[in-house]
Amino acid sequence: MNSAGTLRAILAALLFAGAAANPGHAQDAAHGKTVFQACATCHATDQANRVGPGLGGIIGRKAGTAPGFPYSDAMRKSDIVWDTKILDAYLESPQKVVPGNKMPYAGLKNPTDRADLDAYLATLK
Ligand code: HEC
Repeated sequence: MNSAGTLRAILAALLFAGAAANPGHAQDAAHGKTVFQACATCHATDQANRVGPGLGGIIGRKAGTAPGFPYSDAMRKSDIVWDTKILDAYLESPQKVVPGNKMPYAGLKNPTDRADLDAYLATLK
């Protein structure tokens, strides 16, 4: 392995350690509200549909069911009921969890930001 490869391996190990340590993170919904600014261009925090469906009451809602929103078939047929766990996976990698869904968002890689965002989303009624 060359030194760049070694460095990459170390970085990967560090990133993995960070992700593994994350369950112990005390979620911070107030910080999550700040993280949500990346979503707010497309998503309202109530039932209003914009570029994306309204996220009011998202926890416990079946995916693809906001009234009047033109979902992709992929989202509509995903058979997901949103809880914080599946939401966390979706926000990390939307195309991995719902292949072919049309949310133009690459994913939020930072596990702490994601955990805080999940906590904030759970407060939306
Ligand atoms: C550029 C616009 C855009 C951004 C930015 C965006 N989304 Fe989306 N989102 C969409 C669209 C469009 C859909 C519908 C996807 C489909 O039908 O396949 C969607 C779907 C969703 C869903 C599924 C909703 C349901 O009713 O099943 C959730 C949850 C969601 N987004 C959360 C987020 C969060 C949280 C962020 C910020 C990290 C975010 N999105 C960023 C456009 C966006």
